Amino acid sequence: MMCLYMTLFISQVLGMTNILNAAEILAVSPIPGTSHWNVMSSVLEILMDRGHKITVVSAFPRKIPHENYTNIDISNLVHISVAEPWEKVIGVFQPPVSCLHFLNDIHQKICQIIYSLPEFQRILSTKRFDVVITELLGSRCDLYLGNYLNIPQIAIVSSQMLTWYQESFDNPANPSYITPLHISYPKSETFIHRLLSTINYLTINISFKYYDNRATEIGRMFFGENKPDAETLLRNVSIVFLNTHSSYDLPKPLANNFKEIGGIHLKPLKPLPNDLQKIIDEAEHGVIYFNLGSVTRMHDLPTNIQNGFKEGFAELPQKVLWKYESDTPMTGQPKNVFTRKWLPQYDIIRHPNVKLFISHGGNSGVIEAISAGIPVLGFPLFFDQPRNLELFKYWGSGLLLDYKNFTKQIFLEKVKEIINNHKFKKNAMELSRKFHDRPISPQDTVVYWTEYVMRHNGAHHLKSNAINTLWYQYFLIDILGTIVIILFITISIFFFIKKKCF
Ligand SMILES: *[C@@H]1O[C@H](CO)[C@@H](O)[C@H](O)[C@H]1NC(C)=O
Ligand SMILES: *[C@@H]1O[C@H](CO)[C@@H](O)[C@H](O)[C@H]1NC(C)=O
Ligand SMILES: *[C@@H]1O[C@H](CO)[C@@H](O)[C@H](O)[C@H]1NC(C)=O
Repeated sequence: MMCLYMTLFISQVLGMTNILNAAEILAVSPIPGTSHWNVMSSVLEILMDRGHKITVVSAFPRKIPHENYTNIDISNLVHISVAEPWEKVIGVFQPPVSCLHFLNDIHQKICQIIYSLPEFQRILSTKRFDVVITELLGSRCDLYLGNYLNIPQIAIVSSQMLTWYQESFDNPANPSYITPLHISYPKSETFIHRLLSTINYLTINISFKYYDNRATEIGRMFFGENKPDAETLLRNVSIVFLNTHSSYDLPKPLANNFKEIGGIHLKPLKPLPNDLQKIIDEAEHGVIYFNLGSVTRMHDLPTNIQNGFKEGFAELPQKVLWKYESDTPMTGQPKNVFTRKWLPQYDIIRHPNVKLFISHGGNSGVIEAISAGIPVLGFPLFFDQPRNLELFKYWGSGLLLDYKNFTKQIFLEKVKEIINNHKFKKNAMELSRKFHDRPISPQDTVVYWTEYVMRHNGAHHLKSNAINTLWYQYFLIDILGTIVIILFITISIFFFIKKKCF
């Protein structure tokens, strides 16, 4: 008997691992930005190393082909968001509702581009997949894939949780104590804070529902009129991977099917190119690393800001590594400033002689800075950047600049304060230790939960029952209403009897 059980058990386990060892994973990376692709590609590479087969639609083909990796290249069909003009960064990306509208629009357009690709259509109708992975960002239009293929859908959020999807998952997002993504202060301390959080929460949620009505139309146009609406499909997403970690982002309750994978993209240390190694090793007073990401063009910053940085750097004893993309050399480049079009950021900031990271606050860079334990001077521009950078200030490992009243004096004061006051480095190291102290690595988290979803048919048992309640049920409006009516009737009867008797 025992033996039979053992055989059954073993064959089940083997059967399970067989399926899982070679699962077919479909992934769609709609937003052609490197910071988004960073997270998605890390997840896919980890799953591929584990033995799964990947088919991905993206604008970033794999540099080295791999037998288990198929890329459907859309780089010719979409505009990759790099080197945007300053006017667009400030005018379109910065105001929260405008940024959301922009993301929504581009996400919907790319969904349609992908859905109409003959190669994609062919793959959808001929290949069998076990799970689909997409990114949650501007629209719900790519959630039709899981439904069409009748397989579980996993979503990646390449930042902290997006305000406009919280409610659909019943993930606590009460603006009384949880600040929305676009709000810069990490903690609500005053009435005005809570008021601003609430206004942001409401306007973003209402605008999103309004803008993204079209997701359902797009889904039905390509997959059939009888398809459910996009919100139903959003609520059917199995697992959401969040590129954040509660060790630095203030803790807040997470829904059962939300898993933090902040740090997923971090790679082991690689030797620096010789020229950079030499610059950093020989810098007597240390090095400042300066990078504003891929979306903003450095040489397109307003002249007073560019000059402020240059003149400020010239007065400092440190050497400066500046990621500068322009083909024409920088005018008035100080002697202690070294520019490159690309720099191995995470390897650089882990060098002990690099004292300060001046960053725009993109999520990947923020995680790299926290992991490396380096103090940060923030120069935030849009989306989650102000909030990401305020977190360094909150933990005492950084300060912020404001592009609206940027001057060389303010800039120099803050650089000197961070470099000369030991407290910043100490706090940065403490943040790093907390960030790395976890029971399970982000890589193992991804593998475990992706396979868990496949083992348990989408693992829908993890989800909150609130997803199936109507709003008035959720807020107990019907229950409170009933109680009020009963109280009213009871009191009325009481007074009626009192009046009759006395
Ligand atoms: C591709 O996947 C198969 C099945 O999981 C595996 O046996 C094989 O080693 C993988 N190929 C490479 C190059 O990793
Ligand atoms: C100017 O900078 C200071 C400190 O850097 C900041 O507190 C203030 O809010 C800024 N003013 C404006 C108008 O942005
Ligand atoms: C929900 O997900 C499951 C897979 O876990 C899928 O089979 C089902 O069709 C999905 N439901 C809807 C309404 O798309």
